[in-house]
Amino acid sequence: MPLLCKDDPQALEQAARLLADGALLAFPTETVYGLGARADDDAAVAQIFAAKGRPADHPLIVHVTDAAAAQPFAAHWPPAAQVLAQRFWPGPMTLIVPRRPGVATAAAGGHPTVGLRCPDHPLAQALLARAQTLGVLGVAGPSANRFGRVSPTTAAHVVDEFGPELAVLDGGACREGIESTIVDCTRPEPALLRPGTTQRADIEAVLRQALGLQLVGRDEASPRVSGSLASHYAPEAWVSLVPAEDLRQRLFELPPSPLEADASGLQRGGVGVYSRTALPRGLSLGRGVVHRTMPAEPAQVAHELFAVLRALDAQGVSQIWVEAPPGDPEWDGVRDRLMRAATR
Ligand code: TXA
Ligand code: MG
Repeated sequence: MPLLCKDDPQALEQAARLLADGALLAFPTETVYGLGARADDDAAVAQIFAAKGRPADHPLIVHVTDAAAAQPFAAHWPPAAQVLAQRFWPGPMTLIVPRRPGVATAAAGGHPTVGLRCPDHPLAQALLARAQTLGVLGVAGPSANRFGRVSPTTAAHVVDEFGPELAVLDGGACREGIESTIVDCTRPEPALLRPGTTQRADIEAVLRQALGLQLVGRDEASPRVSGSLASHYAPEAWVSLVPAEDLRQRLFELPPSPLEADASGLQRGGVGVYSRTALPRGLSLGRGVVHRTMPAEPAQVAHELFAVLRALDAQGVSQIWVEAPPGDPEWDGVRDRLMRAATR
């Protein structure tokens, strides 16, 4: 199946029909590309787990056109979900709510809760709306990458992950660049499970209460959230976070790096550096250093982060050194992804 291009008037119709027929379709959202299948069909959803290599008890996000379309998936709609959906939907926020029994069981990984998200991307919205008219209640869609890998922010990234057989609706590069903020609304004190581009303070202002601690991973009763596994979003190259003040010294101490073949036979060597701090001139000579300048604004870094990690990886560096981002809350989403990319 070729890329379904947004400029082709037939593409959307074809894409919606694939979903209605129970097939897999990768589609763009404002955060990252999703690997979609109709959420109301457990057999269709099973293909997602198989394609990603994701354990079947890791729940997927279900995408819907609006809060009304979310209701068939929810056992009830908590007040926190109500105010957050009203303020942040459509947008890069996933709400975890109690799941209506018997609905989207496979998508929810069998858990009694379900993650719902209304994306703010014109093509995703048009796709969901058209699929809905064909009887599709919602579209289950994890990020369209193999399990544990960097999320895709362009159609080309998706093809890199799954090859040319998978149908991909091409919507260009994703605006936000990192995955949605996840808020668990099933607890008396709503909790932030995954930071994204929406600020914690803005969520707390809307809720008029502080968000609870992230308990995932420590709380045995809560489902495993793959985005919350310590090691995730990992490229092939070894990623480390380097404080700005240590960057120059580490570069000066860098020995010439011989090329070595990695698991796929690619000759790897050298260091990719992604930093706001400029590198001393001439340093890259002979040491195999490839530099990418990190923008000053966290939103811009989020937008390009996964593409930069992929590009450096594709250049064959064996290590990626990323200048540690500032500790301010606006950097929470980017810092979270970088820390996971740096964990093995
Ligand atoms: O921006 C996004 O959220 C993208 C786009 C495609 O929508 N999707 C995405 O999906 O990042 P995924 O599956 O890669 O990450 C969703 C996270 C997973 O870590 C999953 O475990 C968690 O959401 N999740 C889904 N349902 C959940 C539930 N019922 N309880 C707790 N966590 C849940
Ligand atoms: Mg993912």
